[in-house]
Amino acid sequence: MSLVKTNSVGHIATAGDWLWENLQFLRMRLQGLQGRGDDMAELMAELDGYRTAYESLSGWLFRDAAIFEVGYGARPLRLLALTSLGLNARGIDLDAPLLSGSVPELLRVLRTNGWQRFIKSTVRAKVFDAHERRALDRALAQRGARLRIQPERFLVGDIATASLAPSSVDFFCSEDVFEHIPRDALDAVCASMARALTPDGVALIAPAVFTGIGGGHLVEWYAHTLGSGMERRSEPWEHLRQRRFQADCFLNEMRLADYQHLFERHFRVEAVHNLQAGHGAAFLTEDVIEELDDYSEEELLGDKWRFVLRKKPENGP
Ligand SMILES: C[S@@+](CC[C@H](N)C(=O)[O-])C[C@H]1O[C@@H](n2cnc3c(N)ncnc32)[C@H](O)[C@@H]1O
Repeated sequence: MSLVKTNSVGHIATAGDWLWENLQFLRMRLQGLQGRGDDMAELMAELDGYRTAYESLSGWLFRDAAIFEVGYGARPLRLLALTSLGLNARGIDLDAPLLSGSVPELLRVLRTNGWQRFIKSTVRAKVFDAHERRALDRALAQRGARLRIQPERFLVGDIATASLAPSSVDFFCSEDVFEHIPRDALDAVCASMARALTPDGVALIAPAVFTGIGGGHLVEWYAHTLGSGMERRSEPWEHLRQRRFQADCFLNEMRLADYQHLFERHFRVEAVHNLQAGHGAAFLTEDVIEELDDYSEEELLGDKWRFVLRKKPENGP
């Protein structure tokens, strides 16, 4: 296993299980190749949602905002789109991104991310990236922009130790990241983000909460595969029940109330949205409900929740 600090590889015990999870992931991505146009439409709709939320809550224009994405990921399409649209955006990730595919960049990925991530990134770059970037370029063209890769906007590091200047960020976004950060680091992360947020600023933090059907991060329960009718080796909500299989990533296993309490300590929580209400309902049989009676149905049905956060007045400017 890798000695490099990364959350994108987990603690899968056997090489066979690691291979299984990653082949499942590859299969899901291959099946998704045809739907790239839809993915980009979704991405653009998400960015429009960011703009609407920021402008309506802050009273300021999104195009003038300093934007910061926490955990832009191995396919940093959101940050690529934001920067290509001419917005003042940057972000940070533990893993080095593969932006140009050059040899020096590949070596940096190997050094920073470890060999497992390196294998994944190289396969992905060869099979998917060019296709995906072309689809992104087409979506940007519809908004009068072209794909522009600005590597200096892609910081590599741990948000827990990143030095963010006070009142330097108007808008934070983070999708599917907080569940990968260890619990004991999250207070420092939130304190630093709250300090960095400008007085009228907005943070949209959307973790995949552990109690959702996909919260265990087994590929066969991802949103993309949920409706596929595929054969699965695990049970629905396996990660809350038998726990026989492990995901290929670190998970802090936080529940909705854990996030609520965390964010309340550092921010004013403006709203909480279940972005996938009802998700997994077809699998929530009477037997499963009975077995999981420590969890509310609301918690079980919906992996992804968005917390809309503002600066607390006592955090000062
Ligand atoms: C599941 S991916 C999500 C990526 C992206 N946000 C998306 O929506 O596709 C989680 C990302 O969070 C990053 N990450 C996890 N912990 C982090 C930390 N402490 N600081 C910065 N990035 C982190 C991981 O390296 C990984 O790229």
